[in-house]
Formats: sequence, C-alpha cells, structure tokens
Amino acid sequence: MKRFAGLMRDHIFFFLNGQKIQVRGREALGMLAPFLRRERGLTGTKIACAHGACGSCSILLGRPTQSGFNYQPINSCIFPVFACDGAHVITVEGLNGPDKVGGQDDGVLSPVQCAMVDCHGAQCGFCTPGIVITLTAFHENRVQSSAEDVKAALEGNLCRCTGYSPIIEAGMSVETADLRPLTQIYPPEPLLDGLNAGASDAVEIRVPEDELEIGQHLFVPRSPEEAICWKVAHPEAIVVSGGTEVGVAMSVKGLAPREILSLAHLEDWDEVTRENDELVLGARATWTQVAEQVGAIVPEFATLLTRWGSPQLRNAGTVAGNIIRAAPISDSLPFLLACEAELEFIGELGARRVTVADFLESGPTMRPDELLRRVLVPLPKEGQTLRLFKVSKRRAFDRSIVSAAFLLTASDGVIEDIKIAFGGVAPLALRLPQTEAFLQGKPVNSAIWREAATVAYNEISPYSDAAASREHRTRLVANLLRKFGAEL
Ligand SMILES: Cc1cc2nc3c(=O)[nH]c(=O)nc-3n(C[C@H](O)[C@H](O)[C@H](O)COP(=O)(O)OP(=O)(O)OC[C@H]3O[C@@H](n4cnc5c(N)ncnc54)[C@H](O)[C@@H]3O)c2cc1C
Ligand code: FES
Ligand code: FES
Repeated sequence: MKRFAGLMRDHIFFFLNGQKIQVRGREALGMLAPFLRRERGLTGTKIACAHGACGSCSILLGRPTQSGFNYQPINSCIFPVFACDGAHVITVEGLNGPDKVGGQDDGVLSPVQCAMVDCHGAQCGFCTPGIVITLTAFHENRVQSSAEDVKAALEGNLCRCTGYSPIIEAGMSVETADLRPLTQIYPPEPLLDGLNAGASDAVEIRVPEDELEIGQHLFVPRSPEEAICWKVAHPEAIVVSGGTEVGVAMSVKGLAPREILSLAHLEDWDEVTRENDELVLGARATWTQVAEQVGAIVPEFATLLTRWGSPQLRNAGTVAGNIIRAAPISDSLPFLLACEAELEFIGELGARRVTVADFLESGPTMRPDELLRRVLVPLPKEGQTLRLFKVSKRRAFDRSIVSAAFLLTASDGVIEDIKIAFGGVAPLALRLPQTEAFLQGKPVNSAIWREAATVAYNEISPYSDAAASREHRTRLVANLLRKFGAEL
C-alpha cells in the first residue's frame, strides 16, 4: 500500500470574506462558529442551539468548482474549522464585499437586508444574520421564486420571536434585479489562484498536550491509500466526513478526539451515479448532492430527502455518516434495506462488500482499518412499487419517530414479493421477515394490509423515548402498512 507520497502541510488555509487566512494548531480543530466570533471578531454569526438545530450560525461555504465556487449555507456551530481548507467562507459581515468587513460598513444594505428591514422581518435579531445568509444563497442565480420555495429554503432557520410571515414576505420581496451575484462581489479567479499553491497537499496538524487540554492529531489525506495507511496506524481515530454527527458531539457533548481523520479531500468520493441497474452513492456525497441527482432515478427517495434535516444539514451531512452512525432513525436505512443495498468498505486488505442488512446485524461493525467507500443500491425494476414514509412531529426539519420503506412486486393482483423495512422501532433499522412472508402470494386487497398490520404488530418490539412511546410507535407501524395498501 502506498505511503504518504505527496507533500504535507502543518496548517490549513482558506479565504474568509475574500481574505486568505492560515490556521494552525488547536484553532484548526475546533468548530467554525466560535472560531469566527472569538478569533476573527466576526460576531455577526450567532450561536443559539450549538447543535445544528436552528440556523442562527449559518454561513456560506464556497467549495471550489471548475469555474468558480458553489456557495451553500451550512451550520458553522457544528462545522469543523479544518473542513474549510481550500474553500471560501462568507459570513454576514462579508455579504456586501470584502471592504465592508470590520466596521467599515458604509450603511449600504444588500437587497436581502433591505427586504428584511422593509418587511419588519426581525425583532430581537438573533436569527437574522442566519436568515440573511440563507436568503442570499437562495436568490443567487434565481430569477423567480414562489412562497413555497422560500419556505423550503428557510426550513433550517428558526425564529423565536418575529413570526415567519414577515420573514417569508421579505424572502419574496427581494429586489433580485439589484442583487449583485457573489461571483461579482468576490471574483473567483484571484481566490482560486490564491488557493492553488499547496492545494494538493495532505494536512497533518499535531497539537501537544498542555496543562488544560489533551494532545490532538489531525490528518486530512489526499488519497484513499493515505487514509487507510493512517487509519491502520491510528485505529482509534475518529473519522469525520460531513461532521454533522461528530460536530454535535464536539460542540455540545465535549468530545475532544485525540486523533481525527478527515475525509474532506478525498476526491471522487462524492459521486452520485447510475451504473446500469444500480445507484452508486459515494461515501462523501452530501445529501444535497444526492437529492440533486436522484430525482430522475428514484423520485420517491428524492421526495423523502426534502424532509431530511434542513438545507444546511443536507449541505454538510453525508451518506457514510448516516449509515455508519446507524441511528435507529437514520432516514436512509429503511430505503437501503428494502432495496437490499450493499456497502463497499476499503481497508488494508482491499475492498469488500456487505449487505446493509448484514452490516446492521453485525453490530454494526467494521474493521478498525476500514472506511466506507460507497453504497450500491439496486434500483427498483419496472413494475415494482417503492414507497417511503417518514413520520415526525414537525413536517420539516425534524427527526423521524418512525420511518418505513416498502418495495412491492405484484402481478395480476397477487403479491409476488414484498420487502418491508422500518426505522425507529428497534435500536437499529430492520426488515420485517414474518410480515413479508405472510404477505407473499396473498391477493392485493385492503383486508390483507389490515391482517399484515396484526402480524407486524407481533413482530416488532419498539422502545419509548422522548419523541414517542412504545405504543405510539407500534400503532404507527400498523397504520403505515395500512396506508401503503390503501394508496396502491
Ligand atoms: C439537527 C440535526 C438534524 C438531523 N436530521 C436528520 C434527519 O432528518 N434524518 C437523518 O437521517 N439524519 C439526521 N441527522 C443526522 C446526521 O446529520 C446524518 O446522519 C448525516 O448523514 C451524518 O453524516 P456526516 O457526514 O455529517 O457524519 P459525520 O459526523 O462526519 O460522521 C458520523 C459517523 O460516521 C463515521 N463515518 C463517517 N464517514 C465514514 C466513512 N467513510 N467510513 C467510516 N466511518 C465513517 C464517523 O466516524 C462518525 O462515527 C440530523 C443531525 C442533526 C444535528
Ligand atoms: S447555533 Fe443553532 S444551528 Fe448553529
Ligand atoms: S428575530 Fe428574534 S429569534 Fe428571530
């Protein structure tokens, strides 16, 4: 296996509101929002919940593309500073240009800020910078927008006092003709040039232990070989992909990993492609990238993704993080189980494949040297019916109480085959083999789904938690089966 062949940096660099900065040592290992506020004095970025659940800390992350930058809002409270390496970060202070940062504001507001003022879109103002960031990203390169589009864009921004009507009105009444595109405010060429030198270097940052804090060691490889090699040498390292799970643990639960392996620079690990009858999801593909690609391939999954977290979370959270975390309410797992998807891991001994069902049954576990590389999802065939459900307390920006996937093959009114998977009814997502066996060969009529609901009722043994009681979850399983049957 190839060892570290390339060059290595002991720092990260990125552009912040048009200015190139270098970050070294412990500062690179913390979360972006406190870094912006404490180290850079950019206090426009607010921290309210500190765990990705309100959008007050939204900033624009510009990831380099062939021709410029793709700017997306993300939650900076759970986004590690090191993950900004090679990017352009724009905070609310920088929205009107680099010369307006640092107290030299001439009082000129952007059309989004004007709309928020004119529509009385702020009271205490705590959520306002995040909302301005989100609306700026939303209106970039967009000519027309409906109220529904604005609402969807703002799903990740909570406001506790103004009420949403004036904010949505502001979003609708932005004078888009007056909006200067971000590429005009920050012409991409000099930024891309500035990021060029050292762009292909791996990053290794060692922070020695001191009186107050533990020693830490970060590695950001450039190739899978480097990643595996380092993982073999550091089997206890915490892997960070999009960081939305690890970031919460670091931001609010006090996790301070001694060793961190960031996958941020593994090129091609974010592919979302169709290969013959399979959908291939790269481990590092964000849920936004998946949603953009799967609409034409598996529309049912694309629809489910509109209910997945918030736009900010989908812009950071990745496929691998959702699967490896294997939370009972990971929204991808029922879909992957019903489609009998396979996971491809790579490690010291090469690549191996395992079905999602076997992975979950194993613990879920993988070898210490392994990383999840990609997911291969057999696509539903013509004549098969795929339905996905997510039940949560709020329609938008809420975790599932129970989620379900059904993949039905029926012919001449008879069930030839059915795959049923649920999340939120056991410590891990699971298939219901007894219910599936009961349904096989049965006629497709409303009575059969009621009977199947009884079988499922006896097959599962859900848990109670703060989100829902055991009884509620059990009832949801039965009702979702009946709903699936009724909507066929
Ligand atoms: C407020 C909030 C709302 C959320 N809403 C939803 C929701 O509606 N639905 C939902 O399903 N989830 C939700 N999530 C959970 C989370 O955002 C997702 O699970 C996301 O996909 C995690 O991906 P990540 O890249 O951010 O994971 P990370 O935090 O980077 O990693 C998560 C885990 O996976 C491991 N890991 C990551 N990549 C690899 C790899 N390639 N190989 C091996 N191990 C790896 C990490 O070591 C870590 O243990 C929410 C989270 C928050 C904070
Ligand atoms: S502070 Fe609430 S999402 Fe970051
Ligand atoms: S204006 Fe106070 S939280 Fe939105």
